[in-house]
Order: sequence, then structure tokens, then C-alpha cells
Amino acid sequence: EESKNSISTIRYNALISTLPKVERIKMSPNLDWYKYQGFWFPYSFLVGLLSIQEHFKPLPTDIFLCSFPKTGTTWLKALTFAISTRNRFGPNHPLLSTLPHECVPFLEVDLVHDGTNYNRDPQLPLLATHVPYTSLPKSIIELGCKIIYICRDPKDTFVSLWYFLIKLTGRELGEITNHKLCFQKEFEQFCEGKSSYGPFWDHVLEFWKASLENPERILFLKYEDMKKDNNLFYVRRLAEFINQPFSEEEEDKGVPQKIMELCSFGNLSGLEVNKTGKHRADTGLGINNNAYFRKGEIGDWKNHLTKEMAETIDRIAEENLDLDSYEY
Ligand code: A3P
Repeated sequence: EESKNSISTIRYNALISTLPKVERIKMSPNLDWYKYQGFWFPYSFLVGLLSIQEHFKPLPTDIFLCSFPKTGTTWLKALTFAISTRNRFGPNHPLLSTLPHECVPFLEVDLVHDGTNYNRDPQLPLLATHVPYTSLPKSIIELGCKIIYICRDPKDTFVSLWYFLIKLTGRELGEITNHKLCFQKEFEQFCEGKSSYGPFWDHVLEFWKASLENPERILFLKYEDMKKDNNLFYVRRLAEFINQPFSEEEEDKGVPQKIMELCSFGNLSGLEVNKTGKHRADTGLGINNNAYFRKGEIGDWKNHLTKEMAETIDRIAEENLDLDSYEY
């Protein structure tokens, strides 16, 4: 198995070395991006993508949580995990002691090669990925697996990405924000479509179009709607979509409400595990759990982007996401 995997990696490296590349931060080659099938990927995620395209075999019952990074993945994972396991755990729900990312496997990281190293929970149909729609393993579409996509205002997404990058590179905020050029440069690249799994616009548009063509199979959600309404509509919608609607008895007991509260930013961000734990500590992808919980608000971009920057993103969004009934 070991040697089969390394032979694949040699093959993938040969392909990757021919791809267009963006070098980003001198000290961190893992943050460089490579363009594959129209999107930009950091190296390790691209190796993962090539591997799942070749080996991964979904079950027809698998449900894929898809997102562009920093658009609400953690929240979506927590909600769907809590909904689908609600009858399995008592008061010691795993979300109280486990980072949501460790509750739902990450396709292009955990299921690489043939996933033999990963112990998938046979009772849990959820898998998460940032892979764009066009690059998803074809069998996911052919088998008609369900997909839940979450998207978010690109201005807030960019600001969230920026702070995540700071955590990722382990640099102090002061040090990096003093280099205004860096922020400016990341911003310009984001606008040009260069970001992890970017272009943002194409990522969103593909899932949006697919969801219009196939609303039964693809549920398209917006972070802002879920946050703003903060009612139970989306908790119920998610439960229905994954074929686990709440019974009358559960409604009477306030189960949807409890799930919403369990998964709220306030609750999750205050848990010890999410304040002090570390995710994938023993790998090159190691990061503090608290990097996934920053502010969890709508419109924080106002504190970080100039008026011109905001106008630039809005204009690009308008040009690229020319969508009826889709607006920010
Ligand atoms: P901010 O950086 O704007 O605070 P992802 O989960 O896709 O990596 O996205 C991270 C963003 O979602 C961060 O946004 C984070 O704070 C926010 N977030 C994390 N958990 C959340 C929750 N339970 N509810 C709402 N937002 C959440």
C-alpha cells in the first residue's frame, strides 16, 4: 500500500510540475498554488484531489458538504453532524469535545489513495470537500449523491481567509499587517481569481447552476441567510434534505432549537476543545482549532477593506455571478 501510494505521488508530481504556478510566501512553499482544471490549489490538496479523482468510490447514500474555504464549512459540518447523529449520543455529544472538522472526514485529505487508512464511520453519510463542482470525482455526480453547498459574501470570505492565512503562517498580526503590500497583494490575487480553490466566482457559480438544474440533489445555502434569519428554518431544511426530518415529537421537545444552539458560533467558539485544541497536529496541515472560530459575523469586511476594495469585489461579483435572485 505504502509503495503504491508513493508511486502515485511520483506520477502526480510529474503532472503538477507542468502546471501554472503562483508563488506566494517565500518561506512557505506549501502555500503556493497550482492551476488544475481551471482552479488554483495548494500542493497537498492538489495531490489529494488527483488521488480521489483516481481512486475514490462514493456510496449512493453519501452526502457531500461542499464549500469554498472560509464560507462556513465548520458551521455546516457541525449542523449536519449534529442533525444526523441526534439519536446516537446523549448529553456528551462529540461536538462538545471535538472540533467539527474531526467529526466529518475531509475528502481530499482523509480519503486520499483508496482511503484504506481512514476508518470511516459506517453510520455517518457525511463527507466534506472544497473541490469545485467540475473537479469532483465523476462517480459522485453519476451516482446522484446529494450535495450541500454553502457560500458567503466574497468580501467577508476574503477577510476571513486573510486571518486564517495569518494563523496558518504562524505570524503575528502586527508583523503581517505592517506589510500592507501583502494584504493588498492577497486582495488583488483574490480578485483575479487566485486563491486556494479559486476563482471564488467560478466555484460559487458552478454549484449554483448545478443546484438550479437539480434542486432535489443539490442544496445551495448562504451563510448570510442562515445567520441573519437565525430561526430554525435552515436546521429543519437541512434535516429534510438529508432525509432525517424532525418528528412532531422532536419538534415538541425543541430538538431543532437545541441543535441550533449547540452549533452556534457563541457555543462552539467557547468550548475548551475549540479554544485550546490543535487540528492535525502531527501533519503539515497542523493548525490551532481556534483558527476556525474568529468572529462569525456578517459584514466584518467593513473593518478591513477600503471603500474602493469593497467596490472592486462587488463589481467583479456582479460581472461574474450574473445570477438571477442571487445577490449580496
Ligand atoms: P470569520 O473569519 O469571518 O469569523 P470555514 O468554516 O469555512 O473555515 O469558515 C470560517 C468562518 O466561519 C470564520 O469566519 C468563522 O469565524 C466562521 N464560523 C465558524 N464557526 C461558525 C459558527 N458555528 N457559526 C457561524 N460562523 C462560524
